[in-house]
Amino acid sequence: MHSCIPSHFRVFYRRTAAGKPLCYRSMPRLSFIRIFGSEKSVSTAINNAAEYRTIEDDIMTNYKDLGLVNSKELFKKAVKGGYAIPAFNFNNLEQLQAIIGACVETKSPVILQVSSGARKYANSTLLKHLAKGAVDYAKELGCAIPIVLHLDHGDTFELCKSCIESGFSSVMIDGSHHPYDKNVELTKQVVEYAHKYDVTVEGELGVLAGIEDAVSSAVTHYTKPEEVEDFVKKTGVDSLAISIGTSHGANKFKPEQCTKSPDGVLLPPPLRFDILEEVEKRIPGFPIVLHGASSVPVELVKIINANGGKMKDAVGIPEDQLRKAAKSAVCKVNIDSDGRIAMTAAVRKTLMENPAEFDPRKYLGPARDQLKSLYKHKIINVLGSNDKA
Ligand code: G3H
Ligand code: 13P
Ligand code: ZN
Repeated sequence: MHSCIPSHFRVFYRRTAAGKPLCYRSMPRLSFIRIFGSEKSVSTAINNAAEYRTIEDDIMTNYKDLGLVNSKELFKKAVKGGYAIPAFNFNNLEQLQAIIGACVETKSPVILQVSSGARKYANSTLLKHLAKGAVDYAKELGCAIPIVLHLDHGDTFELCKSCIESGFSSVMIDGSHHPYDKNVELTKQVVEYAHKYDVTVEGELGVLAGIEDAVSSAVTHYTKPEEVEDFVKKTGVDSLAISIGTSHGANKFKPEQCTKSPDGVLLPPPLRFDILEEVEKRIPGFPIVLHGASSVPVELVKIINANGGKMKDAVGIPEDQLRKAAKSAVCKVNIDSDGRIAMTAAVRKTLMENPAEFDPRKYLGPARDQLKSLYKHKIINVLGSNDKA
């Protein structure tokens, strides 16, 4: 029935006490606006009168129906237990298979993370079913690990709302590029909407260098510890991403910012643990998120470059620093670039060694294996989230 309703019509109905639809009414959008003043006030009026449901409510997919969880309990346990939950970005089947395979084998909870670009690439309907598939696949593999579906770097209220409506259990609203007050206002707006559906929200203070879909910055602006308490209080966010010297992508630092190890490997400046400690003092026990946490493994970059790639001066965050961070209030660590590097290394090597191969399974299969072993390594040796599912 829903698909037959023209988009300029709004439909709402009332339910009986038993929950059965009592009456449907529909009228053109303009009539709604005439009667209620604006479309917004219509939905507010209907939302406030609990017995009324709009057609949007019916279209909405609640993440709980997909078997997903929000991040609240996971973060509470992670902060207490001194480990961090992996937040792995994905946009295709092989990545998802690798993530779930690795997390089931290590018994780790996981955050499946989707950027707005990834959502456009994969299609939001398919993503919803992939996430539900991930829940069932984990069970089939023998361990029903907790799985969160999270929007990475949401930049507008509308995008966050749309993700919540299509089954996401957690969203990030990244207002870090706005002036402080605007960041507070936008984040609060998302929190108010998300919490109605028990969806958790990550905010951000401070700016990471590097490029993402919606936001990019050439320079890092460290988080100001003196702002965090006010931000958390005013917005009601469930977790906070901070900037302490990590950055996005595979070239996190310029060579001139680095020193060199005796064997010529670039060593980046250390993370600003002093800022992290100051933040922890001001909001004790509050869940902290680290973006830009790829380590850019030297051996994988070498494989890429030995097989036709051109990754120059790639440098990431040393794993011992991430391990230290994971033991603090940092309870979510975002890793995307390392997964891209692992897949690319395997695809390049396989195709270079088998130039006649044209079956995608023959090069995506090894890429998936490489990815899975990278994820297991991160979980066990860097984040410590193994056996926490
Ligand atoms: O932080 C950004 C993530 O790595 C997502 O990257 O926007 O290219 O999907 P993307
Ligand atoms: P990396 O580019 O270091 O993997 O960071 C990913 C990230 O922060 C996603 O939000
Ligand atoms: Zn990020």
